[in-house]
Amino acid sequence: MGRGSGFGKVILFGEHFVVHGVPGIVSAIDSTVDAEVKKTGKGIIVRDERKGARGYTEKKRVQQKESIERMLRTMGIDLEEAVLDIWLGGNLPGFSGIGASAASSVAIARAIAEELEMDLSDEKINEVAYEAEKAYAGTPSGIDNTAATYGGLIWFERNLSGGPNTIKKLSMREPVEIVMGNTGIVADTKEMVAGVAARKKRDPRKYDPLFKQAEDLAFSARRALEDFDLGKVGGLMNENHRLLQDIEVSCEELDYLVDLAQEQGAFGAKLTGGGGGGCMVALTPGKELQEAVAAAMEKEGFKVLRTKIGVQKYKG
Ligand code: PMV
Repeated sequence: MGRGSGFGKVILFGEHFVVHGVPGIVSAIDSTVDAEVKKTGKGIIVRDERKGARGYTEKKRVQQKESIERMLRTMGIDLEEAVLDIWLGGNLPGFSGIGASAASSVAIARAIAEELEMDLSDEKINEVAYEAEKAYAGTPSGIDNTAATYGGLIWFERNLSGGPNTIKKLSMREPVEIVMGNTGIVADTKEMVAGVAARKKRDPRKYDPLFKQAEDLAFSARRALEDFDLGKVGGLMNENHRLLQDIEVSCEELDYLVDLAQEQGAFGAKLTGGGGGGCMVALTPGKELQEAVAAAMEKEGFKVLRTKIGVQKYKG
């Protein structure tokens, strides 16, 4: 049997903008999707036993099938001949915006490689997972699969001319607590990404300055994270959320959770990932603040994940 894992992630700065070449900052979180693969049975069977938001697995099933086919093709495996029983589990919940699709692609690619005795580097696994991400995100930036593969805290810049992306490992003095609040809405990342691209094209006078602000914000955020100035990081997260509202990827439930986190004393809060539902993230240094923010969301009926940013690199 082959086994593999991929990290869940939280985009701290720059989702959507990153698709268009603006730098983004992403942190792996301390939860993974785990996969086990056996060469047995008939054709390709997927047993997805992840704890999901209601409807997550059903809604993503078609995209998941396409993503596995893309993955196998990139690994040079014959789709007609392949006999693979794929099991998915782990402690990363199936929420939108948490990198569940990229983490599962990385986990599956690693498990297949182990089962079929293919010696694949992390770089190759990342490339395979990027191909798989196209099924979920249409034109993905590559930020999700990079975080799922390498872990840690990463500065990511997509190379729009097709060359290698810029991936820099950032470091924080110590891990910091966050709360990820789930709206419960399963969003379609592909539609969200396509919507931003269409509006940007239609209305450059509005969108170009917003993209410039997102770029400046990423550089300030990088400095603040490296200086461990958490007050500043939080303020920049709030600003990032306003930019995401401006490009129309937030929604009522996300704004509600962001406001709630701020009222409870979070240092900052923003939507994270594709938006239109899915998750938000609140910066809540210390167990006590994390608990206060998480409990306030749970009291309102939302599912939450208490986790940390700045955790160690995956040692797979
Ligand atoms: O919703 P998620 O976790 O798949 O994150 C998507 C992030 C985007 O920036 C919207 C798309 C991308 O590929 O970077």
